[in-house]
Amino acid sequence: MQTKILVTGGTGYIGSHTAVELQQAGFEVVIVDNLSNSSIDVLDGITRITGIRPQFAQVDCLNYDDLLRVFEEHSGIKAVIHFAASKAVGESVQKPLLYYRNNLQTLLNLLDIMIARQVPNIVFSSSCTVYGQPGVLPVMENSPIQPAVSPYGNTKQICEEIICDTAHSGAPVKSILLRYFNPIGAHSSAEIGELPLGVPQNLVPFITQTAIGLRKKLQVFGNDYNTPDGTCIRDYISVVDLAKAHVTACQRLLNNLSADKVEVFNIGTGKGLSVLEIIRIFQQVTGVALPYEIVGRREGDTEQIWADSHRANTVLGWTTKESIEDTLSSAWKWEQRIRKG
Ligand code: UD1
Repeated sequence: MQTKILVTGGTGYIGSHTAVELQQAGFEVVIVDNLSNSSIDVLDGITRITGIRPQFAQVDCLNYDDLLRVFEEHSGIKAVIHFAASKAVGESVQKPLLYYRNNLQTLLNLLDIMIARQVPNIVFSSSCTVYGQPGVLPVMENSPIQPAVSPYGNTKQICEEIICDTAHSGAPVKSILLRYFNPIGAHSSAEIGELPLGVPQNLVPFITQTAIGLRKKLQVFGNDYNTPDGTCIRDYISVVDLAKAHVTACQRLLNNLSADKVEVFNIGTGKGLSVLEIIRIFQQVTGVALPYEIVGRREGDTEQIWADSHRANTVLGWTTKESIEDTLSSAWKWEQRIRKG
């Protein structure tokens, strides 16, 4: 019998790629999503790639009773991967209560229900944002956690603490916290990818929308940082590689391989690239000239961060496979697919 995994936020960007990888690894997938920032059509994309349509419930994890019903109707769920959350840094500054409610209450509901229904395993989407601007690079899992600069970042820190406190209270909960660096790209089939609403806030969707002509030019936020070319440095990780890290994390929890009740892993490539390097590689692999201009810094941006993913490599047994060239190509292929059909 297949092992059943609940994926909250499973029609979203990272969730949908994870659903694909879970199904391809032989898991049965149940998705819950309120479709607030994703489309039901994503299920068709997942089905076209894997040949299997994941089970789906349009449920808001804020609604305890609805969420409980999902666990009752899909009995035998063995683990949860929790993606459902609000994720726009800027919006979180404008609407902090929305972010605290959405991101904290959904986790509280989930943990309550998991304990009541005896589902002990949860993989949680955390972020490298918890490190702020690290003093030492690359950043390791035991590097200091910095005060969050946005409500969004704060919710990730608090959620990590909620999970740790719950697991250490003696409750039957075990967890793997995955701290993602900057996920980019799309599935190589171009059946699923990132679908930002409105003007993209993140670099790569803005690049692909500019390249296809939807936006006039990319604004590069600052070239006076203390980095080799003056632009910010990030660790850009393929969303497919990131999705695979979730499968590995699930397997680790299900097979009781972890010594600790909560484990933390950085999920990055271990390599930092500047904004200008990303632009250069994008132009090189796509052959498209990208109009851009240098503008002032964006408030709240970290100057530079990249991962030490040694722990994920050795303990989790996960490594990145996709090159930055392939990942940027996949983002471009996806953009062309959604705009031109
Ligand atoms: C942010 C969050 C991260 C979150 C992610 C996804 C922080 C520190 N990081 O990552 O936790 O998971 O968003 O929502 O809060 N850039 C431009 N022009 C643009 C857009 C971006 O130059 O039009 C630059 C930025 O200044 C930055 C880099 O590109 O240097 C990456 O930006 P972005 O894709 O927004 O991701 P982060 O801010 O790193």
